[in-house]
Amino acid sequence: MSNVFESSHPLVAHKLTRMRDKDTNPKKFRELVREISTLLVYEATADLLTESLSVESPMGLAQGAELKEKIGLVPILRAALGMVEGIWELMPNAEVWHIGLYRDEETLQPVEYYNKLPVEPTVSVCMVLDPMLATGGSAVATVDIVKKWGVKKIKYVGIIGAPEGIAHMQEKHPDVAIYLGAVDEKLNDIGYIVPGLGDAGDRQFGT
Ligand code: PRP
Ligand code: URA
Repeated sequence: MSNVFESSHPLVAHKLTRMRDKDTNPKKFRELVREISTLLVYEATADLLTESLSVESPMGLAQGAELKEKIGLVPILRAALGMVEGIWELMPNAEVWHIGLYRDEETLQPVEYYNKLPVEPTVSVCMVLDPMLATGGSAVATVDIVKKWGVKKIKYVGIIGAPEGIAHMQEKHPDVAIYLGAVDEKLNDIGYIVPGLGDAGDRQFGT
């Protein structure tokens, strides 16, 4: 699998195990979503462009850098909302453009219900966020929307991916790098990731 980055960081593995545990309550689960998202985005942003910047330290001139690219976070409602909270701690100036999609339970096809993107793109890099890459329908539809908006540099950041969803994304959007906390075994017959963590939205929002 080219262009797919599965984290091997011990902190990610530790937090993901706590998230999978069915006895982890919603409060703890939300904390873990925030924390693990920060770690995953740290890995996913390693190639962001910078430009040089000098600043005066109390001891003299320091040659440094500042981010050159304007970053947009694109959380897929509703399960990615908790991911934004964590990532904003690292990148407080990132714009957030929500996309509302839900999966039809019968067909597993994504249904769009919220999109307020302005006509012209306002950012140069978009990070599409969603904890679960299952069939990949939601991720593919969101990247379609972001590409149509006009953004060319797009990354996908998720917590768990199924091989089926990764293959779907790579077929439709081979240019989009996929960053995941773990690649799991498979989807079950109702489209849930196994072993996964259950329903990421329900577990965060206590529904
Ligand atoms: C979940 C999840 C993804 C989608 C993944 O959302 O958060 O958005 O399913 O499945 P896919 O890869 O097969 O498209 P859900 O439809 O349950 O909506 P919710 O976040 O509002 O609970
Ligand atoms: N959405 C979830 O929240 N969990 C899954 O396992 C699949 C889709």
